[in-house]
Amino acid sequence: MKIAFLAAECVPYAKTGGLADVVGALPQALQRLGHEVIVVMPKYADINTTRYPMRPFLAPMGVWMGNTEEWCAVYTADNNGAPVYFIEFDRYFGRPGLYHDANFNDYLDNPRRFGFLTRAGLQLCKDIGFKPDIVHAHDWHTALAAAYLKIWHWNDPLLGRAASVLTIHNIAYQGVYSADHYDYLGLQWGNFTSDKFEDHGRINFLKGGIVYADMVNTVSPTYAKETRTPEGGYGLAPYLNNKGDRYVGILNGVDYTRWDPASDPLIPARYSAADLSGKAICKRALQERFLLDVAPDIPVIGVVSRLVSQKGLDLLAQAIEGIVNTMRVQFAILGSGDKGLEAFYGNLPARYPGRIGSYIGYNDELAHWIEAGSDFFIMPSIYEPCGLNQMYSLKYGTLPIVRATGGLDDSVQQYDEASGAGTGFKFYEPSAHAIYYTVGWAVSTYYDRKLHMHKMIQAAMAQDFSWERSARAYEQVYEQALAAR
Ligand code: ADP
Ligand code: GLC
Repeated sequence: MKIAFLAAECVPYAKTGGLADVVGALPQALQRLGHEVIVVMPKYADINTTRYPMRPFLAPMGVWMGNTEEWCAVYTADNNGAPVYFIEFDRYFGRPGLYHDANFNDYLDNPRRFGFLTRAGLQLCKDIGFKPDIVHAHDWHTALAAAYLKIWHWNDPLLGRAASVLTIHNIAYQGVYSADHYDYLGLQWGNFTSDKFEDHGRINFLKGGIVYADMVNTVSPTYAKETRTPEGGYGLAPYLNNKGDRYVGILNGVDYTRWDPASDPLIPARYSAADLSGKAICKRALQERFLLDVAPDIPVIGVVSRLVSQKGLDLLAQAIEGIVNTMRVQFAILGSGDKGLEAFYGNLPARYPGRIGSYIGYNDELAHWIEAGSDFFIMPSIYEPCGLNQMYSLKYGTLPIVRATGGLDDSVQQYDEASGAGTGFKFYEPSAHAIYYTVGWAVSTYYDRKLHMHKMIQAAMAQDFSWERSARAYEQVYEQALAAR
């Protein structure tokens, strides 16, 4: 099949979260199954083109928006065999960041920026003669692709037979904007109805995408169930339920070329399940780098996260001081986002020297160090569509402590104190108490049930969440989309 991915993020070029990991890895896994995949994304000003060179490919390219034609240029690069096309358009992408300015304020023209990206992606297929069987959109940013195919391109020789698939990575971000942008987006006023794009007088990108897409999926089976309920669906459950079996959940994979302690070039020492001595070296290095007391026998709990309420880090904030005051344990925390949470976690090391270390910012190398050097990894998410870090943790023999929600529930097996089976520690209630007691449970296992720890580490490292499995599931979704079209 020929598949065109349209997305706002893709590793290694631009990333704020797991969306980039998925868009970076899934195309390559699909290519290995024999498909031809291209990725179209913005040429953000922040992309490091020295490190990731790209070449001019096409200019100018005219893109019809609803009421005007925009002229852009296209660059290209090879991402391990999957071609990526970058849309250069300075008015929209020639500024810092992806979605917001340095103060975390969303750019006000985001609907135009990503509506434009979406139409540019479709136009590019036409201009280069790429006849996609599938146009694969990701999140609200490119969700409108499904609608544009049906509204504008249904009769096009290149795009007319393409089926659309929309992957929802996070249903809380729907792209809801003022109807002032509607003319520019070119979606036709006849479609501005509550069963399509209209949402309390505004435009809802994700809803429109869901309605028009031939297949919709999200990134874990449990999150697919949760989003079909009023609490989990953030207003879109009825539209997802309308899709019937055209809405499914597929667990993300892990890019083991980047996340494997046996070959990871970023960590201080390499190790495997058979020989964990390198992990002890990583732990020591992590303790030194985060200014923690260097002690091989004190468990380290890692955090790598966007600091937003979705991740439950305000709950951890309520629990963490009680934890370090009553348990012999350390924290290594990496994150950025909400300014209040940044200030809280950023100040903890000064108040708990040697016991809590933190780095506020985005740092890929430190993320790898924390995965490798910690004993546990905590994700107390309020909701989690899939979550990648807990799957990385498993591979690094770093036992996840997670709230049983979405993909966290699907990928972590609960510890059984009778047998020592399981791969992590799960709790259900979204509360500081539940976090406190579950961390206590993990820490007591560390000190008192060493054989169980060893058994769990071995079980965790043996888990296989490779992309190949997910790619095969996407193959089926593509077939279903073609049949449904
Ligand atoms: P989400 O996409 O909701 O943020 P995921 O668990 O799917 O959650 O993916 C998060 C990805 O972003 C992981 O690859 C993680 O390592 C990375 N990440 C998050 N915050 C940081 C940070 N501050 N520094 C480096 N990497 C980070
Ligand atoms: C979103 C979700 C996260 C998921 C990622 C990739 O950012 O919050 O749970 O792993 O997308 O699908």
